[in-house]
Amino acid sequence: MKIAVVGATGLVGSEMLKVLAERNFPVTELIPVASEKSKGKEIEFKGKKYKVVTPDEAIDLKPQIALFSAGGGTSTAYAPQFAAAGITVIDNSSAWRMDPTKKLVVPEVNAHVLASDDKIIANPNCSTIQMVVVLKPLHEKYKIKRVVVSTYQSVTGTGVKAVQQLNDERAGKDGEKAYPYQIDLNVIPQIDVFQDNGYTKEEMKMIKETNKIMGDDNIRVTATTVRIPVMGGHSESVNIEFENDFDLNEVRDLLAKQTGVIVVDDPANLKYPMPKDAHGKDEVFVGRIRRDESQEKTLNLWIVADNLRKGAATNAVQIAEYLVKQGLA
Ligand SMILES: NC(=O)c1ccc[n+]([C@@H]2O[C@H](COP(=O)([O-])OP(=O)(O)OC[C@H]3O[C@@H](n4cnc5c(N)ncnc54)[C@H](OP(=O)(O)O)[C@@H]3O)[C@@H](O)[C@H]2O)c1
Repeated sequence: MKIAVVGATGLVGSEMLKVLAERNFPVTELIPVASEKSKGKEIEFKGKKYKVVTPDEAIDLKPQIALFSAGGGTSTAYAPQFAAAGITVIDNSSAWRMDPTKKLVVPEVNAHVLASDDKIIANPNCSTIQMVVVLKPLHEKYKIKRVVVSTYQSVTGTGVKAVQQLNDERAGKDGEKAYPYQIDLNVIPQIDVFQDNGYTKEEMKMIKETNKIMGDDNIRVTATTVRIPVMGGHSESVNIEFENDFDLNEVRDLLAKQTGVIVVDDPANLKYPMPKDAHGKDEVFVGRIRRDESQEKTLNLWIVADNLRKGAATNAVQIAEYLVKQGLA
């Protein structure tokens, strides 16, 4: 298959190339795409060198699938043009996620909604993806009423500029800033811009996207999203109130059986998920599983995943794999 990766020079794009290679996705020709400034730059994929082209040139090369991770503006401008040329777009930006005509997909949760006429498919927000993979089996069994989530998000979620800012600050160097404040040795309780209701856009994404992916608007969600000076992945403290009571061992069992989830929950031996361990992995790690003793039928847990992998690149490639397997693209 001819596959285009739009944003191939970026953090998510380069991770996509790694994931495509590792999972042996049937790529016969790679089309790396980036902005005008990167045109002609060489990208290596499975031992072969490919030259970066612009989005307009990529459309003329007619790939079957285009994985987009080049920001909302690029997606808004180009995804419809790719789709009109018959190319299936899997988009990592937030441009199409809440469009009622577009599917928002985490394969372990709702791949079944995909159909052959879906030409622009949205990949959810990284923090939402890792949470819904864990919520899914619990909702099926105990019916979730409400979720309270607080995130501890990696700087890799902001892109190359943010990683550079953290590295510059650690080296005592001045440089371009991705954040309005120092991130090293600090915690910034703001991810994306503030909305009129006092929440940030990232927080509202977690709320709305969770309902859309789970296919259930009755699940009430509230979120506080926070940036921390970490690179390996996003962590989340999640409090879940259920309609029905649960047994903790059964919860651990359900999660252990869920595809894409690894339970790391052994407090006696100080075992719990951490971004350092999740880095470079495709799975979502869950631990610190315990009852909320302040309220009945309520569970606390801790979820960690590499935001560039399951939170972005891996999820997009899994959607592509599903489309190919089902003959939908
Ligand atoms: N980082 C994450 O954890 C994460 C997770 C989920 C989704 N996302 C989304 O994925 C997207 C990329 O994130 P990132 O972290 O990879 O950012 P990044 O490292 O800053 O990379 C941005 C990429 O987009 C390309 N690009 C920018 N303008 C373009 C244009 N006009 N035409 C074609 N390509 C263009 C850049 O090419 P040049 O090198 O030529 O500038 C670069 O390849 C964003 O929409 C982000 O919201 C990120």
